[in-house]
Amino acid sequence: MRRIPVEDETRAPSPFIKWVGGKGKLLAQLLPLLPSGVERMRHVEPFSGGAAMFFARRPERAVLRDFNPSLVDTYLAVRDDVDGVIGELELLQMSHAAGSYYGVRERYNLARVGGASRPRSERAAMFIYLNKTCFNGLHRVNRRGEFNVPEGRYKNPRILDEAGLRAASRALRGADIAHAGFEAMLDYVRPGDFVYLDPPYEPVSETASFTAYAAGDGFSRADQTRLRDVVSELDRRGAKIMLSNSDVPFIRELYAKFRIDVVAAPRAINCDARGRGLVSEVLVRNY
Ligand SMILES: C[S@@+](CC[C@H](N)C(=O)[O-])C[C@H]1O[C@@H](n2cnc3c(N)ncnc32)[C@H](O)[C@@H]1O
Repeated sequence: MRRIPVEDETRAPSPFIKWVGGKGKLLAQLLPLLPSGVERMRHVEPFSGGAAMFFARRPERAVLRDFNPSLVDTYLAVRDDVDGVIGELELLQMSHAAGSYYGVRERYNLARVGGASRPRSERAAMFIYLNKTCFNGLHRVNRRGEFNVPEGRYKNPRILDEAGLRAASRALRGADIAHAGFEAMLDYVRPGDFVYLDPPYEPVSETASFTAYAAGDGFSRADQTRLRDVVSELDRRGAKIMLSNSDVPFIRELYAKFRIDVVAAPRAINCDARGRGLVSEVLVRNY
């Protein structure tokens, strides 16, 4: 029997994965601070994650990059073969039961380690399934690159949101998506681009630092400093820059020559797992 696709042309796109450090809750504060004329600029996100800013803006021209290859692979599958991803997710949703999580996790790791051994749409569907059912939507891998987050406690997780995936696929249609570290911006950012940078945050305490390190998500002070150097070069080139990070003296010193505002972020989990509540963050801009 042929199934009728669930289409909703009016559905606004939004992140289709939960991502640590996702900017969804901060958008109301960030959007009014975009540069004037941003509608005409190319939108660049070198630390895309869940890409909340991209989906809220829906720019005509966009460059999305991230260092996480499985995340990037998933975006490509949703952009280029959303029917395939939906079909695979339907199967995963139907077979979802107590205990099925670890079987999918094992299959996903075998498919991932084997590289292109399984179709991209199948790998993407497993990535989305694990994201919706794992503990806190975390993404953590061990030294061998295997996803090792335990199962979350959800009664009835929403594994397949077909209209949401189709809306995301439409929004991603014109986007240039690839796997890359932030240094690659030096090769592709041009004068007049708008660049929103949301790197892993500098930890606010020793404990947070240890947690981030243990989770394999270490973005060191040397990385933060190299990022600042790249940002300075993009500033010199004439790109418009907006950057989020935690409000700590180290970050304020790095970006002392730029404009720095403080925003209050409500959040449950963060890039550096800093805990719950309201935290103040900095917003660095060169305009
Ligand atoms: C704070 S999250 C971005 C959250 C995103 N703004 C959102 O709305 O979900 C940081 C992202 O940077 C990526 N990342 C970490 N190190 C990187 C690097 N060296 N170059 C590029 N991306 C990196 C991580 O994979 C993660 O997706």
